[in-house]
Amino acid sequence: MKERIEALLAEVENLKLRTAQEIEDARVRLLGKKGEITALFDEFRNVDKDRKREFGQQLNRLKTLAAAKIEELKSAAEAAGQSSAPSEDLSAPGDSYPLGSRHPVSICREEIVRIFRKFGYDVAEGPEVEDDWHVFEALNFPPEHPAREMQDTFFVTDNSQKNPVLLRTHTSCVQVRCMETMKLPIRVVCPGRVFRNEAISARAHCIFHQVEGLYIDENVTFADMKQAILLFAREMFGPETQIRMRPSYFPFTEPSAEVDVSCNICKGKGCNVCKGTGWLEILGCGMVDPNVLEASGIDSRKYSGFAFGMGVERIAMLKWQVKDLRNYFENDLRFLKEFESNI
Ligand code: DAH
Repeated sequence: MKERIEALLAEVENLKLRTAQEIEDARVRLLGKKGEITALFDEFRNVDKDRKREFGQQLNRLKTLAAAKIEELKSAAEAAGQSSAPSEDLSAPGDSYPLGSRHPVSICREEIVRIFRKFGYDVAEGPEVEDDWHVFEALNFPPEHPAREMQDTFFVTDNSQKNPVLLRTHTSCVQVRCMETMKLPIRVVCPGRVFRNEAISARAHCIFHQVEGLYIDENVTFADMKQAILLFAREMFGPETQIRMRPSYFPFTEPSAEVDVSCNICKGKGCNVCKGTGWLEILGCGMVDPNVLEASGIDSRKYSGFAFGMGVERIAMLKWQVKDLRNYFENDLRFLKEFESNI
């Protein structure tokens, strides 16, 4: 035992360790539960009574020296920039990752849908790649009708053949699919992406989003439509909002109207956003043309209804004063971050 104590003393004195890990390993090897010095203390119990005093003193010296040496090495390592603490503090709060924000077009589309859901409308979606029947023909655009020019179309198949396939130019085609498949009465909004062959500018894009609305039942009147749109406008732009309707033309509605809301910036007094008029255009609407009801097999003598369609980007532009439509498609983080608070 004597030799072992002496050998360990010499070893401890000459310990030259650098890294925190080496020092910790040495501490475990010498002073840990199964360490060499700890083992000597166990053996010490069996030492003869008359030698106990001598060995006891030596052992205690060894232990104190080893502990002091380890401490000394640790401080030296720490001073040299090597922390002896475990490198990960498991109790520290986690790293926070920057949260993305929802896109303003999504926020606006969801807000429109939320409002109409509250009024009892269902939500329906239809295909983006559609046929001529649903986009034009069933909506009372006869072949060669000049109203088709209102929406410059991307064709997928040859447009000289019967019922060509195309990218939908408006979400009004989803109202046709709803009339074909849903049980009456129908109360539905249809959000979706639409495509038009337009030159890209601050006010036009070849891809944008619309929400279509359709209400069909017995005795639905123009007054019902006006009320639904007024309530929507007030939810969207604030309780003071006024609406006005201007006569318009769409092949699928008769009569048709365009709806303006009082400018939410100048409260109708006239500013540069509303170009001094006090009004901002938000959507097109009208009473569903009897031809449209009949094309989908609905008895137009028994049922009537109204439809409306709005551009999501346009509503978002008015709500948040976005001046250039191209902002929505360029993914500039400085623009997108402005909508973080709307998550
Ligand atoms: N589909 C029309 C467009 O894209 C918008 C529209 C106008 C939809 C009147 C309607 C409506 O349902 O009644 O310009």
